[in-house]
Amino acid sequence: MKNNLRIAIDGGAATGKSTVSKKVAKKLNLTYVNTGQMYRLIAFFALTNNLGKNEDKLYQRIKNMNVSFDNDGFITSDLLSFKKEDLETKIVSSTASLIATYKKIREVSVEVQKKIGRTKGVLLEGRDIGTIIMPDADFKFFLVVDPKTAAIRRVDQHKKNGEEVSFDDVLKDIINRNKQDTTRKIGPLLKSSDSIIIDTSNKNIEKIVLEILRVIENG
Ligand code: C5P
Repeated sequence: MKNNLRIAIDGGAATGKSTVSKKVAKKLNLTYVNTGQMYRLIAFFALTNNLGKNEDKLYQRIKNMNVSFDNDGFITSDLLSFKKEDLETKIVSSTASLIATYKKIREVSVEVQKKIGRTKGVLLEGRDIGTIIMPDADFKFFLVVDPKTAAIRRVDQHKKNGEEVSFDDVLKDIINRNKQDTTRKIGPLLKSSDSIIIDTSNKNIEKIVLEILRVIENG
């Protein structure tokens, strides 16, 4: 049965957002979209073409890009080809956070995401979903985590992808990225007044998923 709900899940780096969102979407038969993938893709393109600090040139190259998302949270685009791991490196994470501060880049991304967000039966995950992309979502969640737990999770993910990283560097990156994402002028990471906070620090994924499903069931 197709579900008509529209759900927003926001939160900082390594809060467990993607894993949780994917599972909740699957349980509720919703289309899952990981909006961070779009900023990561543009960041990877910028790095590949040496355009990271040039907002205007980057905008000219990406403004007509086509993207599609599969239900596992992967993005594909006519801009360039890449592997899933290419979008998960430390340098792509920090560049994504940088280019996500660029006004024109955000406009392109927000337009694509708002269009998806207007359809029924979707779960969108990101930083500005509850505030900008789907302010009228049926349910909004805001995930938080203690930075050290976040860093442990991210180090594991980098290791799985074959990228050797130090705990201290990853922790520093997460703190810097959350600061940049929270303090930027346009579309900052912000809890909307009607979203429910879920602290993921001492909970396994299944427990977080259940907590979210329970809120939705109780309407
Ligand atoms: O969620 P993820 O860590 O993959 O996002 C990468 C970066 O993309 C974030 O640090 C943030 O700067 C940016 N982003 C955003 N708005 C979103 C999703 C991600 O600015 N809706």
